Amino acid sequence: MKVTVVGAGNVGATVANVLAHEDIVKQVVLIDIKGDMAAGKALDSWQQAPIDYYSTSLVGTDDYKLTEGSDIVVITAGLPRKPGMSRDDLIATNAKIVNSVTSSILEYSDDPIIIVVSNPLDVMTYAAHKASGLSDDKVMGMAGILDTARYRAFLATELDVSPKDIQAVLMGGHGDTMVPLPRYTTVAGIPVTEMIDPAKLDEIVERTKFGGGELVKLMGTSAWYAPGAAAAQMVSSIVKDENRIFPCCVKLNGEYGMKDIFLGVPVKLNKNGIGEVIELKLNNDEMDLLKASADHVKQVMDVFDNMSL
Ligand code: NAI
Ligand code: 2OP
Repeated sequence: MKVTVVGAGNVGATVANVLAHEDIVKQVVLIDIKGDMAAGKALDSWQQAPIDYYSTSLVGTDDYKLTEGSDIVVITAGLPRKPGMSRDDLIATNAKIVNSVTSSILEYSDDPIIIVVSNPLDVMTYAAHKASGLSDDKVMGMAGILDTARYRAFLATELDVSPKDIQAVLMGGHGDTMVPLPRYTTVAGIPVTEMIDPAKLDEIVERTKFGGGELVKLMGTSAWYAPGAAAAQMVSSIVKDENRIFPCCVKLNGEYGMKDIFLGVPVKLNKNGIGEVIELKLNNDEMDLLKASADHVKQVMDVFDNMSL
């Protein structure tokens, strides 16, 4: 198996490094317009192999020829947020980048599975789907695993338990309208609502929605460790054909009563990409929040369509 990571910045380099540590693919190609930087980061990660014991080789480049025959491609190319910016502010610059890198990838790989990370996530997933012409099960975006991980981490701190024991589902767009779902959150099988004060839970839900912005404020740029690990986890489920269930951004074709929109929902990930979209029996309040999130994503999709790139 061969995986290409486009963009060797903070997130891309982390995806490549985490994946190499998993030791589940033959090669990871890290490609960036800054070819030397990509080559340097790949070489650095390869020199970590004798220490951390993995065989996955890493190559860094600016030459798409080296991506030939990739099975999975992770797109992280694009600008990150700066303080005061929303993810949507990145649309004009990143849409052009995602369009062009998707076309370049498709010149050398026939039918790869594409995982988009660049922001604004839901609309960049739409852009990659459109530019690639690949089937709906092959193009997806990473956000839900990250947003759910933030929610799980906040809960673990509050309850003083291991984050390993917190299971949760979070749906919707990757933005302030995302929908954490307390009714689908458990702590070692115990409903979270039995373990926490409702006001505290509300506070954690709100903090989760703005979790990306919290990190931008602290660091002056957006996060990379958890985002990189989240994208690598999607690759891993695909490579191992595991059918793990994760919230991912996918094209909806009637599920949740929505069509032709890219939105975060729980899906099974296997060797074909998106194996199945899981439809939860949401109550009216949850459905209203999901629809509001979808409306926001749709508005940004319309902005993208009107840019006629
Ligand atoms: P970064 O600035 O560290 O890296 C971006 C890299 O993309 C740079 O190395 C740049 O040279 C490269 N690049 C730009 N144009 C390119 C092109 N045409 N071809 C190849 N490479 C190109 O940014 P970072 O922190 O790695 O973030 C990357 C993207 O991921 C941003 O759009 C950010 O907002 C997004 N992001 C999304 C998350 C999510 O949950 N979906 C989480 C974190 C970041
Ligand atoms: C994040 O949520 C900015 O999308 C990026 O960290």
